[in-house]
Amino acid sequence: MALRILAADYGDPEAVLQIVDQPVPEPDDGDVVVRVRSAGVNPFDAKQVRGLVGADPAKLPLSIGGEAAGVVHAAGASSGFRPGEEVVVYPATGAFAEFLVAPAAHVHRKPADLGFNEASALLLAGVTAADILATLELTADDVLLVHGGAGAVGSIVVSRAVTAGATVIATASPANHVHLRSLGAVPVAYDGDLLAAVRTAMPSPVTAVADTVGTDQAIDVSLALVPADRIVSIAAWGLTGEGITMVDGSTPASRRNRREAIAGLLDDAAAGRLAVEIGGTFPLQDTAAALSALGGHRPRGKLIIHP
Ligand SMILES: NC(=O)c1ccc[n+]([C@@H]2O[C@H](COP(=O)([O-])OP(=O)(O)OC[C@H]3O[C@@H](n4cnc5c(N)ncnc54)[C@H](OP(=O)(O)O)[C@@H]3O)[C@@H](O)[C@H]2O)c1
Repeated sequence: MALRILAADYGDPEAVLQIVDQPVPEPDDGDVVVRVRSAGVNPFDAKQVRGLVGADPAKLPLSIGGEAAGVVHAAGASSGFRPGEEVVVYPATGAFAEFLVAPAAHVHRKPADLGFNEASALLLAGVTAADILATLELTADDVLLVHGGAGAVGSIVVSRAVTAGATVIATASPANHVHLRSLGAVPVAYDGDLLAAVRTAMPSPVTAVADTVGTDQAIDVSLALVPADRIVSIAAWGLTGEGITMVDGSTPASRRNRREAIAGLLDDAAAGRLAVEIGGTFPLQDTAAALSALGGHRPRGKLIIHP
């Protein structure tokens, strides 16, 4: 038997999450069963439980957790994996569990030099960051504004854009400005006249925007700086008609680039070219507390569940 987290209903995680004991899953032919060592917590998990990305009663109970790292426990004959291999699972369904079953196409070998925590915190944010930059077709000539540059996605966007040779300016709370400078970006606070602050801090005209926060302020400032077709957002889902490109990982370009992006992210993180910050770890039974800790102003770094 094995423990896993299920959401019995949509609502406050503290009220609706349950820990249940179920049989260890068996792999189908092309599947892999992974003993989870670490699972990354993402804002999507909290939104999903709260019913903010759909609240279909027919989908209850919900298995939650979108990425994990662990060790292969059992592998289907055609999966290409063997028990004992260290792997990363992304995208995952039900990663907040002692055991996780996934199709082999979602299972990636974990580099030996990359820790389980970091591996489980890397791919959802990293693939999203790669999608943003690919969609913008960013070049070394661009001046990129990143809204939310110290967040999980934003930090990787900043880091990758700086590596690509672009000039980067990024918004964050003042406590995260040293971090942004260490990544190679010009930091700017968002609690004031952001448009004026951007123009003062970055005399060169902004040519592209990556929005990871989705606030009216972020969108209004972006539209004042660049045409809508130079803005990509992963968070402003309420927009209609502005012409801004929304990225959610389902575009043909992002599907095409996904395996390459994953391999590059795992290699770079293992080699220390890409930092993955861990902000805190929670035992499986405290998953609700981890989801409640997301959002607002919290210390930087990904939260992790340890079964
Ligand atoms: N569409 C997709 O495929 C996709 C994929 C991944 C994530 N997302 C979404 O993207 C968002 C970011 O995800 P994440 O994992 O990077 O989250 P995260 O690590 O929690 O980072 C969020 C960042 O937002 C900043 N922030 C908070 N309030 C702000 C405000 N009013 N104005 C400007 N910045 C503000 C915070 O910066 P400070 O702490 O410096 O204030 C924080 O660093 C979430 O909404 C998530 O659901 C979408």
